[in-house]
Amino acid sequence: MIIYKGKDYQDVSRKAANIMSAQIIMKPDAVLGLATGSTPVGMYAQLVEWYKKGDLDFSQVTTVNLDEYKGISGDNEQSYRYFMNKNLFDHINIDKNKTFVPDGLEENSDKACAEYNAVISRTGGVDMQLLGIGENGHIGFNEPGAAFEKETHCVDLTESTIRANARFFDSMDEVPKQAYTMGIKNIMAARKILLVATGVAKAEALYKSLYGPITPNVPASILQLHLDLTVVADEAALAVIR
Ligand code: F6R
Repeated sequence: MIIYKGKDYQDVSRKAANIMSAQIIMKPDAVLGLATGSTPVGMYAQLVEWYKKGDLDFSQVTTVNLDEYKGISGDNEQSYRYFMNKNLFDHINIDKNKTFVPDGLEENSDKACAEYNAVISRTGGVDMQLLGIGENGHIGFNEPGAAFEKETHCVDLTESTIRANARFFDSMDEVPKQAYTMGIKNIMAARKILLVATGVAKAEALYKSLYGPITPNVPASILQLHLDLTVVADEAALAVIR
């Protein structure tokens, strides 16, 4: 495991973008596993900037995202597909047919999950998987639980997540109650993992994940077993780690 410490969010974003760029430069047809959330926004902005300067070429890149809400379409501003288009895909020369996100509109969960596992395997496997981390140590939508979920699966969102999301929707009925997410086995199968964390709210989870016991109660703790893990975090997120 390598840990890079950044001064602040901007510095972390730049360092993470550097690592992702190196992957694309070394392997122009790389398969990138991508994440949404607030953490990677700065990194995506940096990649877009370098693309616009002519330093990066995404024409041969394939991407597979970690997760998507079930029951909303990619046009919905809250969907992860929409997020990816807005923050990255719309601004670079990637072939959108080679950008994959679980199909939120597939009502049959078994079918949606089996199809997504097949998509991942057809890509030939993820070269570099980007991860954020939840304050409870979740990765993707793999929440703390009794066991590590292996492949793509459907998760019931917790009451508090549903309530927190309600403000983004016109009515409570429209708020997604479930999501599709890659499982731990999918994530661990990536050849390289890039975990990015910023802010003091992540410090405890990051410490437990990198140095605590490996347990499904802290899903990210499984990353200790990955042979090629790079962590980029700011001083605040590394506060507990000396
Ligand atoms: C996003 C995802 C989540 C986030 C995590 C951290 O696709 O899978 O696990 O990475 O919730 O979110 P932020 O970056 O918003 O703190």
